[in-house]
Amino acid sequence: MSPSSQDFFHYRDGMLFCEGLPLSSLAEKHSTPAYVYSQGTILNNFERLRDSLASLSALICYSVKANSHLRILNLLREVGAGFDVVSGGELARALRAGAAPDTVVFSGVGKTQDEIDAGLAAGILMFNVESAGELALIEGRACALQKVGRISIRINPDVEADTHPYISTGQMIHKFGVPKEEATELYRRVACSPHLKIQGVACHIGSQILDVEPFWKALDEILVIARQLAAAGMTLNVLDLGGGFGIPYGGESPLDLERLARGLNERLRNSSMKLIVEPGRSLVGNAGVLLTRVLYVKRNHRKNFVVVDAGMNDLMRPSLYGAYHEIVPIQEHSAEKIQADVVGPICESGDFFAHDRNLSSVKPGELLAVLTAGAYGFVLSSNYNTRPRPAEILVNGTHADLIRAREKVEELMVTEEPGGGR
Ligand code: LLP
Repeated sequence: MSPSSQDFFHYRDGMLFCEGLPLSSLAEKHSTPAYVYSQGTILNNFERLRDSLASLSALICYSVKANSHLRILNLLREVGAGFDVVSGGELARALRAGAAPDTVVFSGVGKTQDEIDAGLAAGILMFNVESAGELALIEGRACALQKVGRISIRINPDVEADTHPYISTGQMIHKFGVPKEEATELYRRVACSPHLKIQGVACHIGSQILDVEPFWKALDEILVIARQLAAAGMTLNVLDLGGGFGIPYGGESPLDLERLARGLNERLRNSSMKLIVEPGRSLVGNAGVLLTRVLYVKRNHRKNFVVVDAGMNDLMRPSLYGAYHEIVPIQEHSAEKIQADVVGPICESGDFFAHDRNLSSVKPGELLAVLTAGAYGFVLSSNYNTRPRPAEILVNGTHADLIRAREKVEELMVTEEPGGGR
């Protein structure tokens, strides 16, 4: 077991604690499966990033998609975060959490007219525009609503990042951004329009990246564009490097933030542009665990299976990306080890949390924690198999708040009753 020293999950007298509370007491009170988040860890992650980027006076726009709970958005807003949103829903959440509109960046390849209208009405810092069609729509809507749309073009820098193919975004095979060669023409259109204003240039090369070099390369690419535009008389205020800072899930070396920042500093020494980063996972990933109870332990001629009460509908990352999450018992014991698949109750063989994992030999009724589940955990959950989505609990010291009650089966059917769809 190795909850990392930077998070606030630790064993005390053989019991796993989140900050000052034993996870067993939370399971007792709120049942399982449940997500448990450590407030101290989130704030710690934010401070570490802010400190490493201190000399750059960067705006940290938390990527809401990683964990969009209002309490977490509030927490991060209070310590100075802005927000990266990718939908009207996320924009509404950021605003509900009190975000100043001029700290909100709107990314995404498929913004709808309603979403663009909402961004214009709110007066967000910028739209990160991903196509000529989107730019035309923003211009038309800004004109109709008598607003000015602030624009960054998201460049696809054609930089390779060593990560899972589903979450790599910065190459020509990906749908994201526009090729460098097309950027100048789009900026000209912005410069010519009374309804648009050039704000900056953006990129995002992928997620869960543990090396610093791809970020430096991407910054080099967008700096070239910024310089070309400056030479053509178009001034940019902002350089948005996107998110993607990776975290260890199973013993990987963490991304070296200090080294990353040194490289960014060198490149931006003579620049007056403001740096924006859009971290999601690195702020909340290690701040959450999924608490689950063992239902059954079974074996066949080949394998052991530990069947738990959480399923792929609660935490989809292992099924979707083959992602590794460490799984530990809530009560440490020195029992013999077994090798087992840890699986959920859902009727699919893809419903697993681990394959052939060495675990202490757990028994039905015991509690387990799936670690590093604070990012892309609850937000990716679903009601598949008509399973209510889990509870969410936020721990601060010795205080725990149930920040989202477990759904009830009855609630899941409400909009399907006659008249329920309205
Ligand atoms: N900015 C943009 C434009 C993005 O598309 C993303 C993530 C981020 C920022 C934040 O990236 P982060 O710092 O969290 O790596 N569901 C996947 C991750 C999908 C990431 C999508 N975009 C997972 O569970 O690994």
